[in-house]
Amino acid sequence: MSVAKLVYAVFILHLFNSFLYSCSSNDLSQIPKNFLTLAKREDFFNWMVGIRRRIHEHPELGYEEVETSKLVRTELGKMGVSYKYPVAVTGVIGYIGTGHAPFVALRADMDALPIQEMVEWEHKSKIPGKMHACGHDAHTTMLLGAAKLLKEHQEELQGTVVLVFQPAEEGGAGAKKIVEAGVLEKVDAIFGLHVSNLLGLGQLSSREGLLMAGSGRFKAKISGRGGHAALPQFAIDPVLAASNVIQSLQQLVSREADPLDSQVVTVAKFEGSDAFNVIPDSVTIGGTFRALSPRGLEQLKIRIEQVITTQASVSMCNATVDFLEDVNPPFPPTVNDKDLHLFYESISVDMLGTENYFETLPVMVSEDFSFYQEAMPGHFSFLGMQDKTHSPMANPHSPFFEVNEESLPYGASLLASLATRHLLESSSSPNKSNMKDEL
Ligand SMILES: *[C@@H]1O[C@H](CO)[C@@H](O)[C@H](O)[C@H]1NC(C)=O
Ligand SMILES: *[C@@H]1O[C@H](CO)[C@@H](O)[C@H](O)[C@H]1NC(C)=O
Ligand SMILES: [Zn+2]
Ligand SMILES: [Zn+2]
Repeated sequence: MSVAKLVYAVFILHLFNSFLYSCSSNDLSQIPKNFLTLAKREDFFNWMVGIRRRIHEHPELGYEEVETSKLVRTELGKMGVSYKYPVAVTGVIGYIGTGHAPFVALRADMDALPIQEMVEWEHKSKIPGKMHACGHDAHTTMLLGAAKLLKEHQEELQGTVVLVFQPAEEGGAGAKKIVEAGVLEKVDAIFGLHVSNLLGLGQLSSREGLLMAGSGRFKAKISGRGGHAALPQFAIDPVLAASNVIQSLQQLVSREADPLDSQVVTVAKFEGSDAFNVIPDSVTIGGTFRALSPRGLEQLKIRIEQVITTQASVSMCNATVDFLEDVNPPFPPTVNDKDLHLFYESISVDMLGTENYFETLPVMVSEDFSFYQEAMPGHFSFLGMQDKTHSPMANPHSPFFEVNEESLPYGASLLASLATRHLLESSSSPNKSNMKDEL
């Protein structure tokens, strides 16, 4: 923030003399701590825990978040928050504040995974084969928590907070559908977070620029000629062909990628014959590929197709490759806006101190949050959950994954602080020509 902005902001504070920033020195830097105190109140915490457990017991997969979406709308309704629904099938877009520019968006994902929960506890998933194993139940709850905090301090908002409850992050690119729905066109900045089992409770981590890889999926059918397993000379064996294909695919990263420009190719699916003594007609393989740049992703995609088809032909098989882009659009890399990152760091330090903010290296997991960042400046970060009673914690997508509910107040207050401060700092900018725009 420039000195001019700071002076203006302090001037605003004297005008409002509000709760959020009157607690100590009439200082914007108090907002995050004050929100955290509010979110840790016993009644507020218990309310969030109750919501998170209800969502956890009823996990729903991408674009099927019917009950979760209904719960979100019911809670927003109780708070008196207006919303748009349906957006992107099951998505909900809420609005708090003046209804005018500037606009800042906060995002949570609502979908679960096709995993059978293995954690035995009172609020275990009641849906066989489905589980909130990535913490999206916590993200949805944190955004509802932020909504409640923001609504309670609505008159202090210098603009409008747009709440994005999106479907289908785990494939299906719900974020892309939200962007395409056109509901975020006037948004100046969007923030999102993910719970992390690797960071301590109340610790935050992120970085400027590249944070997470881009990713795509592929599926290939390798066709030969089936036959008796004892008479290979009369068959064309697609199992061996597929095995050679997988070996060759592993050379793309080791031999063709720049060792300093990380990439991943994993074959995770292999479907052949059901019998021990039958060579199948065909084998289907499938997997994922990751890269840190759009160019790296495109290059991998071209080579994956070439390697599969030509290597299959070495074994006299034919192969077709499908990148499944209609159903699962490839995710671009997640890249944090530079100015938003500086802003984020100042909020995290104001809330939790410099000792609780950690700069991370980029990671090869991916996030469909990147679709927002293609359309507007965006920032994504990780929020720690580990404490003495919860460590070590299982990784996301594990059937043993657990959320430490003590993290809920941190997430809610971080999101509320990012939105409130972003609006205060952008509305204090001298350029107010678009202040009267309605969303
Ligand atoms: C591969 O495709 C060619 C051309 O369509 C066909 O002649 C051949 O029989 C196919 N081979 C196998 C093993 O399916
Ligand atoms: C002020 O905002 C208007 C409208 O968004 C934009 O066209 C203009 O470039 C901005 N001016 C400055 C100095 O940022
Ligand atoms: Zn996930
Ligand atoms: Zn996730």
